[in-house]
Amino acid sequence: MDQNLKNLPLSKILDIEKLHNVDKPIEVANGLPNECYTNNDYLAHEREKVFFNKWTVIGVASSIPNPGDAKPHNLLGIPLILVRDKNMKIRVFHNVCSHRGFKLLEKLCTLKNVIRCPYHSWSYDLSGKLIATPHIGGLNNHTSENFDKTKSNLKEIKTKVWMDIIFVNINSNEIEFDEYIKPLENRWQKFIKKKDHNSLVHSNDYGYFSLNVNCNWKFAIENYCESYHLPTIHPELNKVSNINDHYHIQGLPNRFAGQGSKKYEQPAKGNKKFNTFSNWDKDMLKNSEYIALFPNVMIGLHIDHFYVFWLEPLTMNETKEHMQIYYVGNESANGSDLKELRKENSRFWKDVMLEDVNAIEGMQKGRNSPVYNGGNFSPVMDQPTHQFHKWVANSLI
Ligand code: FES
Ligand SMILES: [Fe+2]
Repeated sequence: MDQNLKNLPLSKILDIEKLHNVDKPIEVANGLPNECYTNNDYLAHEREKVFFNKWTVIGVASSIPNPGDAKPHNLLGIPLILVRDKNMKIRVFHNVCSHRGFKLLEKLCTLKNVIRCPYHSWSYDLSGKLIATPHIGGLNNHTSENFDKTKSNLKEIKTKVWMDIIFVNINSNEIEFDEYIKPLENRWQKFIKKKDHNSLVHSNDYGYFSLNVNCNWKFAIENYCESYHLPTIHPELNKVSNINDHYHIQGLPNRFAGQGSKKYEQPAKGNKKFNTFSNWDKDMLKNSEYIALFPNVMIGLHIDHFYVFWLEPLTMNETKEHMQIYYVGNESANGSDLKELRKENSRFWKDVMLEDVNAIEGMQKGRNSPVYNGGNFSPVMDQPTHQFHKWVANSLI
């Protein structure tokens, strides 16, 4: 993605009135206009206001499990480094050397003690501190009188790990994460207490898959928010849990939306099942919840597993979807006894997500039509989707 997106005023790109129309009552509201899915100039605004000003997801902590593990990531053109430091803390830095701007890290690796720039060997410790500047004062002179090392540390980004998900606020201007996530944590008190977060274990064998889809990232979120498409897109799923078994979730203040099911059945093989969360409300054993936390992560919570389905926007109409699956305790996540069951569970979700690919790519194709203007919502079925559109529109205005 081009880093130097032209910054045309938003009003030159789309009719601002159309964004105000999104915020109207659902019966008369329109969805986001076509430009939000097709126009490259629009992307500069979205990048800043919808991603950099917010808590955005760039991966999961278990993908860099050991001290020194480091991974590059490209967030809409901005090169980043994710590192696990010696104290096991996850840190995120801008992936650029303070000297002449060389990109420091190109691929996943385990660093011994430092991030060393391949160009002139300036080195930073894992907390980002510049600790070595070889020959900066001439041959074999590693200091320079007028050069203040402390001013050239790596630029660290405000980062928070929650339920293994790595969130960053690039512009450091969003409210504190703990406050930000509170409404969702409160909602989920009946399922999973804070102390239960530690029991989540990422599965090493069938705990990850990715999909490349030919559409704008927003379509994945808006599709995830509604169960309206169950009978048509997921006929098999609909047999076990149909529209009537689902309920809307609209988290206020407007930071998340989604749906829940009251018909979740734990996968089983003979008498083998996955472990369950220990503080799950006994009256809600069959509840599962599917929530999109804006902008770019979708999470699924079940009594016996949790998944994080996060989006990496690549271009206006290309997105990489990353699926990470967790179980309760190591035995369920990695034990050989439940390997087959994990394989089936991963396959199940992959099939569901693949069915959704048709839906979301279909919407991208339709957005090239000049007569479409954001369309309408079902006042009953599309409320969470409308909520997401309002969040995007309000973030832009
Ligand atoms: S650019 Fe990194 S050491 Fe020179
Ligand atoms: Fe779906």
